[in-house]
Amino acid sequence: MDKRIDGFSKLSKEEKIDWITRTHFKNSTAAASLLSSYWNSDPSLQTQHDEFIENTLTNFYMPLGVAPNFLINKSLFTLPMVIEESSVVAAAGNAAKFWLNKGGFKAEVIDTLKGGQVHFLYKGNPELLYAFFKKIKKPLINVTSELTQKMELRGGGIVSLDLVSKTTALPNYYQLDVRFKTADAMGANFINSCLESLATAFENLAAKETFFMKKEASIEILMSILSNYVPECLVKASVSCSVDEIEHQEGISGKKFAEKIVQAVAIASCETFRAVTHNKGIMNGVDALIIATGNDFRAIEAGVHAYAARNGQYTSLSKASIIDDQFTMELILPLALGTVGGLTKLHPMVGWSMELLGNPDAKKLMQIVAVAGLAQNFAALRSLVTSGIQKGHMKMHLFNILNQLGAKPVQKEAALNYFKKNMVSVKAVSDFLHSNET
Ligand code: MEV
Repeated sequence: MDKRIDGFSKLSKEEKIDWITRTHFKNSTAAASLLSSYWNSDPSLQTQHDEFIENTLTNFYMPLGVAPNFLINKSLFTLPMVIEESSVVAAAGNAAKFWLNKGGFKAEVIDTLKGGQVHFLYKGNPELLYAFFKKIKKPLINVTSELTQKMELRGGGIVSLDLVSKTTALPNYYQLDVRFKTADAMGANFINSCLESLATAFENLAAKETFFMKKEASIEILMSILSNYVPECLVKASVSCSVDEIEHQEGISGKKFAEKIVQAVAIASCETFRAVTHNKGIMNGVDALIIATGNDFRAIEAGVHAYAARNGQYTSLSKASIIDDQFTMELILPLALGTVGGLTKLHPMVGWSMELLGNPDAKKLMQIVAVAGLAQNFAALRSLVTSGIQKGHMKMHLFNILNQLGAKPVQKEAALNYFKKNMVSVKAVSDFLHSNET
């Protein structure tokens, strides 16, 4: 069967499914019916989902769970979490409960600046370029006024525009570096539109100068794009309590437990192998909220990890200390989030998640997401330095194993009972099911 096709995108959804299932699947009827079994029963809702991307065939489910009891800046929240990994939601709920009677989480937005660059090449005299930029800077900014007018009314707009030489890194490489505030929008479309119109205007203005008309001194625009690295769009979450307030944890005193956490964070701060996993745990909480609220988790992931390596070594995003018997954990994250635009009005479950959170503005959402990351980090370290991660993880994973092995409801019930006291592993569950066949 020829697996190449021209004009696939032009086919109707039914035709696409027909071609895909006939070409790639042994049992095309079963494959097609699996796809349609995941369609929304409401055709208009399904169309809405179909139109988010191209060549949509069906939906791909992820569970949406909730973690209640999050006290953040003295207000209680229940967090919506979309994630496929067992234990994460339970861990969030446990961390929330732990801090609930210890003052809860604090969170503050440090800044909300985002940036983008017009990347261009120029081989001529740098002084002439800088003089030209100085002359045209104001008219250049004015070019974007139509785009920025509405954003300015919402408290955003262009904050700065600079010409930056990058020629020590790459010959002839310069940037127009632009910083923005985008109010409650993530701002990708706004930023990219502004950058593209700046680039066009910059090129046009240069074309009027005899100097830049010379081939050896021409300005060649390469690309204009926002940056997902946002080290000036930061939010800080923290928790703090006296070590005396910490209950015994699996037989370890509160003080010893806090010391172990501080030590674990110190390891993640100096050891990349550990830092990556440590930060992955933080992102378990962050991504689950980012997806539930319709934000762009790839942008957040890329930006967060770049931030973790901002000083030249990839390191822990969180900090922990005990000073005068006061245990503190802190997490600073770069989070460019939006609560308007994008999927926020289009995806019904995003609307639901936002309402659950009390319809936060972008700053409030930054705080909630950072808290989710810190809670997840605390919960992971709490398990790691006490019982180990597998105990809780495998218990939660038990459901997945049981489902994977096709356990019947009565077997599941018996297994849940049995594995309260016995070690979970795929083999142990499989053996159990064999000896409990119904
Ligand atoms: C698992 O998804 C996340 C952890 O590995 C995080 C950590 O090790 O800190 C438990």
